Amino acid sequence: MKNLKDLSEKELLFKGAGENLLPHYAMVSEIREKGPKILSRGEGALLWDIDGKEYIDGHSILWVANIGHGRKEIAEAASAQMEKFAYGSLFGGYYNEPAIKLAMKLAEITPGDLNAIFLVSGGSEAVEAAIKIARQYHQRKGYPNRYKIISRRESYHGVTYGALSATGLRIYRTPFEPLVPGFVHVPAPYCYHCDYGKEYPDCEIECADAIEDTILWEGPKSVAAVIGEPVMSAAGVLAPPKEYWEKVRAVCNKYEILLIADEVINAFGRTGKFFACEHYGITPDIMTFAKAMSGGYAPIGAAAVSKKIADEFVDWMFVHGITYGGHPVSATCAMKNIEILEREKLPGRAEEMGRYLKEGLNSLKSHRIVGDVRSIGLHSAIEYVKDKKTREPLSGKERVASKIEEISWQRGLYLCRASVDKTYVAPPLVIEKKQIEKVIGILDEAIGIVEKDIK
Ligand SMILES: Cc1ncc(COP(=O)(O)O)c(C=O)c1O
Repeated sequence: MKNLKDLSEKELLFKGAGENLLPHYAMVSEIREKGPKILSRGEGALLWDIDGKEYIDGHSILWVANIGHGRKEIAEAASAQMEKFAYGSLFGGYYNEPAIKLAMKLAEITPGDLNAIFLVSGGSEAVEAAIKIARQYHQRKGYPNRYKIISRRESYHGVTYGALSATGLRIYRTPFEPLVPGFVHVPAPYCYHCDYGKEYPDCEIECADAIEDTILWEGPKSVAAVIGEPVMSAAGVLAPPKEYWEKVRAVCNKYEILLIADEVINAFGRTGKFFACEHYGITPDIMTFAKAMSGGYAPIGAAAVSKKIADEFVDWMFVHGITYGGHPVSATCAMKNIEILEREKLPGRAEEMGRYLKEGLNSLKSHRIVGDVRSIGLHSAIEYVKDKKTREPLSGKERVASKIEEISWQRGLYLCRASVDKTYVAPPLVIEKKQIEKVIGILDEAIGIVEKDIK
């Protein structure tokens, strides 16, 4: 056994990754066997690992790096803020300048009257805050029994206990049960595997009606909020027809239930608009966002609330606080990030490049296992199936998406977060056409190799 100081820098990193740093959603034994994938540099839509090998970032590293990597102007702004005032909290009535300016900017760009912003450090915290705001709001209005949250199956809203209780993907829930009481799940608008065996438009959006049925069954005066991602991301880019969200908005209004739009992935240009709600022409009562809010340059998230809600918290305190909520350096990065998104018109670019990416992804349907390709802006997913005719899903044992991810990595394409049967393709909004062509070429090859082993 070598002494630590005899190890090369790379050997040291491999040892630390295998023994000291616990991965998120990954198997330690596999990492030890294959070696960790260690990224060290990024620029635009490109990444380099510690050996200097180049990759296209096919996933904006978890849907975060919308403006691309290596933006010097953000680094400079963050550094100046760190020197001036690195940390300040929003507890107890103290403020800092970047947090105030960011809140004002968010109030300006979010739809409707979402003018009051609660700053946190990430997506799960944003969802926690939204759920707590909804429950406390109803208490204030004199309805303490309005506590239930209606969510969709297949949804992902984060992993802290409240957010996880809203999450509808069972794989993330079952190891941690029992979860928080009062969360109810309804079918997702998953047209490719419709719960009702119907097809749009003949279905008349029965999955949206299921929300009203559930409200009536639970008792309208027991429901605090309906939460949903306008475009479901982890479920595999499910963008429901416009009428879906119109119906859900109307039903929430009818029973005075709050609508929470979880835009943690959708927001900041990913779908071709600044916020995905804009595709549907609806304004939620609460909107959550995180991820691309700072482009990944610093951790930050938020819950934006409408005037109607904010007014209830003027002489009644929202009993909630997060140490890093309103962090001045994160707020500075988020502000610069928004400035770049606006200046370079990146949401529009996502729409344009998204069309090009979609064309390429559609060409992959010639593969036997590619059942469906879904996309909106630069937000897309490929769904693999065992049988295209019956849409029979692949079993977890086949690990198709993981194998495709691994082969893609070897060929210079980074695609983290492969699920059992889906590959997410969501590159930075600055991606070039040539790079998109390379992404498609690598995926074509990887899918071709993996499908040979599928019986
Ligand atoms: C829609 C949605 N909400 C919440 C979260 C949780 O965000 P975080 O991982 O930053 O806690 C995610 C993460 O992917 C998400 O997709």
